[in-house]
Amino acid sequence: MNIKQKLIGLGLAFSMAAGPLYAAETKDDLIARDIALAARQYSTLLENIEGKQGFPRTMEDGEISMVSTRDWTSGFFPGALWYLAEATGDAKWRTAAARYTANTASAKFDKSTHDIGFILNCGYGNGLRLDEYGAGGIAYRDALLAGATTLVTRFNPKVGSIQSWNLRPDQDWKFPVIVDNMMNLELLMWAARTSGDSYYRDVAIAHADTTLRNHFRPDGSSYHVVDYDPVDGKVRSRVTHQGHADSSAWARGQAWGLYGYSMMYRETRKPEYLAQANKIASFIINHPRLPADKVPYWDFDDPAIPQAPRDSSAAAIIASALLELSGFVEPPLAHRYIAMAEQQLRSLSSPAYLAAPGGNGGFLLMHATGHKPAGKEVDVPLNYGDYYFLEALLRFTALPRPTKSP
Ligand code: GLY
Repeated sequence: MNIKQKLIGLGLAFSMAAGPLYAAETKDDLIARDIALAARQYSTLLENIEGKQGFPRTMEDGEISMVSTRDWTSGFFPGALWYLAEATGDAKWRTAAARYTANTASAKFDKSTHDIGFILNCGYGNGLRLDEYGAGGIAYRDALLAGATTLVTRFNPKVGSIQSWNLRPDQDWKFPVIVDNMMNLELLMWAARTSGDSYYRDVAIAHADTTLRNHFRPDGSSYHVVDYDPVDGKVRSRVTHQGHADSSAWARGQAWGLYGYSMMYRETRKPEYLAQANKIASFIINHPRLPADKVPYWDFDDPAIPQAPRDSSAAAIIASALLELSGFVEPPLAHRYIAMAEQQLRSLSSPAYLAAPGGNGGFLLMHATGHKPAGKEVDVPLNYGDYYFLEALLRFTALPRPTKSP
């Protein structure tokens, strides 16, 4: 039985009546329950933001924060709506997704950000994948190609990377590159395939190779920011911005690296990308401070552990990445990745992390951490946590293999 049949079976009625034995719930029931709740939550979220400008990013102090297209997270809301359209087949989500996707259009010419991949690929990319021959087809392709063309203007061949942030008066950086930037390469790989212009691919591979050389430590963990000299391409410093310390392992940074190299292996089949993805996976899965429910603390090295906040968004990104990576390795490693992702999805689907119906402002996941050192977005919902949670559920649904080792 697929998700859509299950949802019909459930009559889309969602019951959070206390006491379901979550651990014993079948995979199909878990996914159907989550998607039914997601449909309910996002209906609430759509109502909550009606008449407001922009895109919902989080909820703090009971207020939904809306952000403009220029914010790096603007694409996740339309992206989540596309995933709901995919999971339910309900035209209502397609309509809402198309509306919010169109609102991200101006990002395609925005040279001031490296996050064009996040912003455009989540909405336009998923829209094109699901509606290739629909009315949006050509316009979606054009928006994505324009975005990729804008993104490569931030590439410096001497460094071999795309510049992440712009220079700021409060930082002594010359050409900062963050590990998160791996995520924007998916747009470039798509653009190379679609346009036949290999330059997009050359830039993406150069960036991934440079990051591989300079961002990682021997144990597979990564620095958040590597700053380069744009003239000679040399590394100037390795620091953090959103983590606990320069030498610490910020959980979401590890998640972006895992996802980024899994995705780049899918796109290139370069063995060194697979090796790096496996190394990052091993660092995370075997980490002595990964909690039993597999939802990481916001930073693996926060001395406040076990009192430190968790990051449910990192868990969702890791789960989605591991499900993809499991398709590139043989058992027993493949089973290990699936088992870990399943544990994460079961934890995130429990009342400890999943919103109660109608609560959490309409977002799905609770207990994410955005930017702890700045005291921002600690223990909140985050739109990218929801996006990758839905993506992971769809990947889990499509999984061709058994979920347990034989
Ligand atoms: N890319 C910014 C973050 O992960 O918070």
